[in-house]
Amino acid sequence: MSPLFELEKLIRKNIKSLVPYRSARDDFDSGILLDANENSLGSPLKDELELHRYPMPYQEKLRKKIADYRNVNVNNIFVGVGSDEAIDLLFRIFCEPGKDRIIINPPTYGMYKVSANINDVAIDEVLLTFDFQLQTEQILDAVTPNTKLIFVCSPNNPTANSIKREDIIALLEGFNGIVIIDEAYIDFSDQDSFANKLAGYPNLVVLQTLSKAFGLAGIRLGIALASPEIINYMMKVKAPYNVNKLTSKAAMDAFENLDAVQKSISSIKKERDRIIKELNQLPEVEKVFPSDGNFILFRINDALSIYKKLAEHGIIVRYRGNEPHCENTLRLTIGTPKENDQFFDALNQILNP
Ligand SMILES: Cc1ncc(COP(=O)(O)O)c(C=O)c1O
Repeated sequence: MSPLFELEKLIRKNIKSLVPYRSARDDFDSGILLDANENSLGSPLKDELELHRYPMPYQEKLRKKIADYRNVNVNNIFVGVGSDEAIDLLFRIFCEPGKDRIIINPPTYGMYKVSANINDVAIDEVLLTFDFQLQTEQILDAVTPNTKLIFVCSPNNPTANSIKREDIIALLEGFNGIVIIDEAYIDFSDQDSFANKLAGYPNLVVLQTLSKAFGLAGIRLGIALASPEIINYMMKVKAPYNVNKLTSKAAMDAFENLDAVQKSISSIKKERDRIIKELNQLPEVEKVFPSDGNFILFRINDALSIYKKLAEHGIIVRYRGNEPHCENTLRLTIGTPKENDQFFDALNQILNP
């Protein structure tokens, strides 16, 4: 770890002194509950979850399930409304609006920039190399006394590759602020999660989500893994009942169905191999970038026009040609085998009219 890292010095003053909202369920969660102005008569739905009652503020049971799955302690886990909530909380905890800065490494996931803009935090960009790896020295050179967060996305969106572990470790060791590793796609890669490095790096925050490998984008369940001290601050700042009961129940059920999750991951990886192979056979495809995610970035002649024509065939992919180092690229999410066949049918018709 960086010998100069001091968490308490990084936390904004107003957050350190914040007295968090105390919800009714902090003190008692059973008995005759006349404390929270809920509708004691119930909801109009037939439900087993008692949806007329507020959810548990700290989601201990769900956090324990996730902690066991990722082999960490429950006090290393925060759950929120998608990873996007965790990203926003990190800004609010660490970054003074109008004063502090972050570093991002484009091309990368767009929410870091949006969240920085919302929070009025300046952004320093250090581009990835042409093979989409970190320029570690340049990143450390770009650090100023006001740089609070460095975001690393691995596997990276939209490029799909994993970032070299030794480069991430160089940042964790060389930067006195917080290094956030967004592992939204980690379960599609053969890399180990940095979650098992939490003990060694108190400045590490790992982001994960149930939106990708778990197939639960609709429930909005994001996860941050970090030291108990950082997690405490996240708990202090979050909205009191951020994770609702329907989401929590669906997430708990998913952890009872891990075989299905594994099956889905294997099948996506198999299709990924097939698509890469087939794309590589097309003369118009200049390059297929390596993928550790559930999507593939590839370079093709006239990408923008192909993107539009695919849409006319009802196939929606993402044009990424405006991103640095991504000229003429499309990002394709791995679909079902049938959807992938339909993508190739449409692409072949466009290329050979
Ligand atoms: C790298 C990365 N992080 C986070 C997210 C969003 O995760 P969530 O659905 O948990 O907000 C995405 C979604 O595309 C992503 O690509």
